[in-house]
Amino acid sequence: MYKVVTKRFLNDAKTICLFEIEAPFIARHARAGQFVIFRLDEQGERVPVSVAGYDRQKGTVTVMVQAAGRTTRMLHTVEQGDYISDIAGPLGKATEMEGLKKVCVVGGGVGCAIAYPIAKEMHERGIEVTFIAGFRSADIVILKDELKEVSDKLIMCTDDGSYGRKGFTTLFLKQEIEANIDWKRPQFDRVIAIGPDIMMKFLADVTRPYGISTIISLDPIMVDGTGMCGCCRVIVGGETKFACVDGPDFDAHQVDFDSLIKRAAFYKEEQDEAAKHICRMTGGKRNG
Ligand code: FES
Repeated sequence: MYKVVTKRFLNDAKTICLFEIEAPFIARHARAGQFVIFRLDEQGERVPVSVAGYDRQKGTVTVMVQAAGRTTRMLHTVEQGDYISDIAGPLGKATEMEGLKKVCVVGGGVGCAIAYPIAKEMHERGIEVTFIAGFRSADIVILKDELKEVSDKLIMCTDDGSYGRKGFTTLFLKQEIEANIDWKRPQFDRVIAIGPDIMMKFLADVTRPYGISTIISLDPIMVDGTGMCGCCRVIVGGETKFACVDGPDFDAHQVDFDSLIKRAAFYKEEQDEAAKHICRMTGGKRNG
């Protein structure tokens, strides 16, 4: 059993919640870009979530979870001091940072929670970080202060203009790339994009003509998280890869986004149905 030592909602809409969980083994080994899989109870669904932080001294790992399906909604009802049944990890490969000097990190919605620890580690290593954080509207904006701390330049934007600049992340990424060309400043060594599949697809289209290395972190449906079930397969450079063991980071210019988006849509109906289901045994609360 793993104790929740901190719980706090990150935005006004209470759609994304931070949990700091006692898990000394994971805390000792976790790196930015990796993920964990948790279960609320022994009968529970296995849910992958990215590592948003860790404290090796305290032996805690932090995750930021959006209430998207049945289990993540139930997780949001877990309180500080409660326990969850399992948390396995760290899983997947850590984000590559070797040799980078200047990077643009782009987060979309809850993707900012995943992008944050990557930007933080880069900032600590002395890499120049421009962070573009995009949200639908002001009420779901997260991590305003934290992102400022880890960025040399921070651009916050919303689709409706209710917070920060009005517009999509693609627009501001293009502007930043072009500004570097105009002012003859060093171009980004790499763009790292994390968010909805469709956003990452369009960001890859922005960087492709400039030849800028672009990495995305994928979050497909996962079951075992060990490369056994094949659930998280994705086509990269014409080959089948498993996001849980080969990723979650992949070269955005090699990813077959059309099959990725089609596959995600295939499961959406069942996920929505499961999200509506209220267990007669627990009344929608987790067991235990
Ligand atoms: S989650 Fe089963 S192979 Fe990746």
